[in-house]
Amino acid sequence: MRKCSLAQGRETYDAPVGLSSGTGDGKDGKWNPRVPKALRTGRRRLPCRPVSEPPPPGIDKAAGKIQAMFSRIAPRYDLLNRLLSGGTDVAWRNEAARLLAPIPGEVHLDLCSGTGDLALAVSKRSRGRARVVAADFTFEMLALGLQKFRRKGIPIPEAGADGLNLPFPAAVFDGATAAFGVRNFEDLDRGLRELFRVLKPGGRLVVLEFTPEPAGPLAPLVRFHVRTLVPFLGRLVSKDPSAYQYLPDSVGRWPAPEALAARMRAAGFASVEIHLLAFGIAAAHVARKGAP
Ligand SMILES: C[S@@+](CC[C@H](N)C(=O)[O-])C[C@H]1O[C@@H](n2cnc3c(N)ncnc32)[C@H](O)[C@@H]1O
Repeated sequence: MRKCSLAQGRETYDAPVGLSSGTGDGKDGKWNPRVPKALRTGRRRLPCRPVSEPPPPGIDKAAGKIQAMFSRIAPRYDLLNRLLSGGTDVAWRNEAARLLAPIPGEVHLDLCSGTGDLALAVSKRSRGRARVVAADFTFEMLALGLQKFRRKGIPIPEAGADGLNLPFPAAVFDGATAAFGVRNFEDLDRGLRELFRVLKPGGRLVVLEFTPEPAGPLAPLVRFHVRTLVPFLGRLVSKDPSAYQYLPDSVGRWPAPEALAARMRAAGFASVEIHLLAFGIAAAHVARKGAP
């Protein structure tokens, strides 16, 4: 099996967690035994996979590059999120959790979970009574998320997982979320099909993303913010010019909400609703897998 090349000279990638049994409060170093066995991935190497979609011109979304970029910016990721969005990102994730509407006893996947803020929002939305698995393929982001979950005493298990090749059986999740994540997929359609596969019939998916061309009176201001201010502040705070130039570049080439909805339907989802947020700067797509 070919191995993913990664940041920091490592050749392969190991997810950080041991999802073995324990008290579930994280204090014994073992995390949330309530996650069904089928969903526990433990430490695993993430395989590279064949990719059918060529990268859009000018943007290289090869898995190793995306992982390397997020591992570099991980330490300042949360700070920059709050700074660049003026805190709006928190409200957007809360809205995504509200749209998912988790109910007690359900199991949800937060894919591209990063430092775990949406996984936390989903858990809080259900008052801790739905289970959430936080999955991502960047070790450094997951490690920060794990610290956060432990600090807050909220038992959310993590899984090292590539969105294009999810390490979960079919039809195991009641719902799934992905915030600002699927835009980074090398092959969006394959990632959407994977999300569809792991959802139970009737399961719902909430995808939160920026939109490429927000309309309305604030559009020029938004364009200035995304195209000029974000790369400038990103450079200043994260000291990683390429990562925060990647944001406007990838958003600019991202499908418009209707086009993304069409891709979700093509992946198999029976219905897709679009909820525009903050004058259309971002959109939450709520998709449902049809009953069998
Ligand atoms: C912009 S961050 C978003 C993190 C989090 N969802 C949030 O709302 O802050 C994007 C995350 O997607 C992850 N990611 C990108 N491509 C991925 C893939 N193919 N499989 C798993 N995770 C991926 C990155 O590692 C990163 O943590």
